Amino acid sequence: MVKNVSVKVDSDFVLLLPEGLYEIKRMEPRSKQRSIVVVCIFLAIAGIVIFGYFCNDQVCALTKRDMMMSSDVAALTSDTGNSVGKSSTQINNPGLSYEEVLNDDNFQFDMNAHDVMVFLHIQKTGGTSFGKHLVRDLDLKRPCTCQRRKKRCHCFRPHRNEIWLFSRYSTGWKCGLHADWTELTSCVDQELDKNEGETTKRRYFYVSLLREPIARYLSEFRHVQRGATWKTSRHWCLGRQATPQELPSCYSAENWMDVTLDEFAACDSNLAANRQTRMLADLALVGCYNKSSLPPHERNRVMLASAKRNLASMAYFGLTEYQKISQYIFEETFNLRFAIPFEQHNTTVSTTTMNDLTPEQKRRIEHINSLDIELYSFAKRLLFQRFEKLKAKDADFEVRFAHLGNLGVMRNGVTEFNWDSNIEDTSTERQ
Ligand SMILES: *[C@@H]1O[C@H](CO)[C@@H](O)[C@H](O)[C@H]1NC(C)=O
Ligand SMILES: *[C@@H]1O[C@H](CO)[C@@H](O)[C@H](O)[C@H]1NC(C)=O
Repeated sequence: MVKNVSVKVDSDFVLLLPEGLYEIKRMEPRSKQRSIVVVCIFLAIAGIVIFGYFCNDQVCALTKRDMMMSSDVAALTSDTGNSVGKSSTQINNPGLSYEEVLNDDNFQFDMNAHDVMVFLHIQKTGGTSFGKHLVRDLDLKRPCTCQRRKKRCHCFRPHRNEIWLFSRYSTGWKCGLHADWTELTSCVDQELDKNEGETTKRRYFYVSLLREPIARYLSEFRHVQRGATWKTSRHWCLGRQATPQELPSCYSAENWMDVTLDEFAACDSNLAANRQTRMLADLALVGCYNKSSLPPHERNRVMLASAKRNLASMAYFGLTEYQKISQYIFEETFNLRFAIPFEQHNTTVSTTTMNDLTPEQKRRIEHINSLDIELYSFAKRLLFQRFEKLKAKDADFEVRFAHLGNLGVMRNGVTEFNWDSNIEDTSTERQ
């Protein structure tokens, strides 16, 4: 299926980019455009009236997301000079935003209705641990049932065998190994329809974790050095996979085992660099993996702005470095409780080669991860802003925070985890 690659960048994007307007492609001649605009306005008004009357709150909440970007997020984005408009390709369904969830006082993640949580798992961010917490440690009316040997759990709604969690340990990599924002938002809905044998209107809640970019990069480096490849990732965008010309392999053998850090950093098509930005951005805005469709600096600017916007609009994100705060925000956002406290691992820093880097290596790695560094600092500010806000609203904060993960129920089998030792998530399983 060939999708139109034209992408229009809307006005708030232009306003917030000081260097002015650019267009990726002009779509229609003027006069034709005007009549289309008139028809669109008419349809929009008719749509608002009809939709307003005939749809229930749960479904209509889907349409509110753009109106509800709070002033905080706006302040944060304009502060850094970046924000990005929505692509006009309407294939994506990015789900409900944090603001929508929090601005609704009666909000509940409704397992009985059509709510689905989608976990966007970026490599080496501690996502395997978090993914296990999601299937094993949430305090649910109907807990997920897990089969140890298959590393797969059934996470069903209380009264029907319908999935509420889209993640590696519940559905598997249905949208591709470590699928990114671009892949998930164009795939999850169809996959669930296929799975359930019917078309349903669902509410989606995207969740993800970010990690300090240099630590993450080095962790990925060591992982690849030990033989990990993720080579079955599809890198799907606008209806097709990235071609080998667009993403040349960095190595000719089966894998890149024993690669040195300098070789690792020297390969231009190594997706480890700025991985978090790339995986959170709407790649349709930059012509997907075809780097010649935009000048490099434009491409970077748009990708970063898009990643920030998508991150801020997700229902939830946490930071690996702040497990406790991340756990608290998750629980408050979804009104769900974990039966165990998230553990903070600091060990990675000591086992990394971070301290062994030469100043030249350090500079180079910072340079090739500069988008991620900016994204992470944006994420950190946003996380703490959310934390302060939730804290202020929570009369029981002190007690709650001191006893996170303690439901008054003793449980064994706390998920033990070391995010550097795990090589399993690179396997080719794609069920
Ligand atoms: C990449 O983009 C350039 C410029 O837009 C275009 O000429 C070229 O055909 C594209 N390459 C592929 C493989 O689509
Ligand atoms: C991690 O580091 C913090 C501060 O450096 C320390 O308080 C905490 O105990 C450490 N956690 C672990 C599990 O070592």
